[in-house]
Amino acid sequence: MSVMYIEGGVPLEGAWRVQGAKNSVLPILAGCLLTKEPVTISNCPRLSDVDAAVDILHHLGATCVWEGETLVVDAAGANHTCIDQGRMRAMRSSIMFLGPLVARMGKAKVSYPGGCELGPRPIDLHLEALTALGCQVHEGQGEILCQGRPRGGVIHLRFPSVGATENAMLCGVGAEGDTTILNAAREPEIVQLQQFLNTLGAKVTGAGGSVITIRGGCTLHGGQVSIIGDRIVAATLLAGVAAAGGEVQVDGVDWRHLSTVLQLLEQAGCQVRSGVDHIWLRRDRGAPLRAVPSIATAPYPGFPTDAQAPIMAVFATARGTTFFRETMFSNRFGHVAGLHKMGADITIHGTTAWVRGVRRLHGASVTATDLRGGGALAVAALAAEGQTVLDGLEHIDRGYERLEKMFGHLGAKMERR
Ligand code: EPZ
Repeated sequence: MSVMYIEGGVPLEGAWRVQGAKNSVLPILAGCLLTKEPVTISNCPRLSDVDAAVDILHHLGATCVWEGETLVVDAAGANHTCIDQGRMRAMRSSIMFLGPLVARMGKAKVSYPGGCELGPRPIDLHLEALTALGCQVHEGQGEILCQGRPRGGVIHLRFPSVGATENAMLCGVGAEGDTTILNAAREPEIVQLQQFLNTLGAKVTGAGGSVITIRGGCTLHGGQVSIIGDRIVAATLLAGVAAAGGEVQVDGVDWRHLSTVLQLLEQAGCQVRSGVDHIWLRRDRGAPLRAVPSIATAPYPGFPTDAQAPIMAVFATARGTTFFRETMFSNRFGHVAGLHKMGADITIHGTTAWVRGVRRLHGASVTATDLRGGGALAVAALAAEGQTVLDGLEHIDRGYERLEKMFGHLGAKMERR
């Protein structure tokens, strides 16, 4: 298994177009099951999670053909209703296939999804949503059997779950009657999913707000979609420059999708300028970053839980103490062990962390234990004195398209061996 060698202390400079968003393309890939005509997905990131979704589509009988950064999916031949445990455990988003599969086939048998170890990853909200649409859902022996064509209905999510909102949308679009989703998640990826489904002929409104309505009974045709820029990869790139010092222009991302991150980096002492589809950031290495009193993760448009780890790596060398509260997952501090090895002064109490800034971090051998935690360790290594050896790259490659290419383009000494 390869590892990453990172020489810290090198200021970063340049411009980078950010990859397509993992968390947008994954539900869109599942949504391709809803039409028997080809779907063209451009700006599609090359990630292991995308490979896992393509593998599920192939298993179900669809074809997927790469043409450069464009993926063409044709689900006309989809004729399977089961997804085996191996494919389901490959990632969290495998559960996203349940809604469209039962809408297309009238039944589906899956097992429980995998994904980053961030604490319990229940799917009760997903199953309650499909039940509200008239599907019969049975769980037993580690399997989930979903039967009956969805008929539309009202779904009231107890929590604005991103995945449950997306599963409900994908199933609702394939339902006969109309559907209303209350307390829906509001992420930009959900807005793009609505746009994608409407491109195929669906009638979905309200995404970006808490109430989404879906007109049922529409037959979907094929279409094209270009995946929005990945706001979390952009946040990780900006965090790397904020930590190491330098100047970067990030292209291909809507600054509004990560405005809470930009606000924090400005409060820490970075200069930030945003345009329609780019963000410029500069951090003067001579001026230490300043801590901010507290940072709490929250559903969009709050501070994104996926940016918590990379941003914590920035504040590990800020002047003062920053208090982090992780409200979305019970075990999302896996990166702290590695930051400790690099000299960070962080104390964890349950889902809160006190980060007391130190003058410098130093290189160490560290291991990524989840996707965004891996991003955080790379950010810290860019700021650290000396060499860091980072392994666990299989986690990083799930969501970052060649992390070393992105930072290397800005001058970082980051090499995969
Ligand atoms: C999506 O995961 C993202 N993944 C995650 O990004 C992200 O951290 C998360 O949303 C929150 O923004 C994808 O989009 C592929 P949730 P998801 O359902 O849908 C609880 C990354 O790094 N919950 O919004 O799984 C759950 O336990 C990944 O790119 C239930 O209780 O997140 C959690 O506490 C990591 N029952 C909270 O809701 C359910 O049925 C938020 O989960 C579903 C969720």
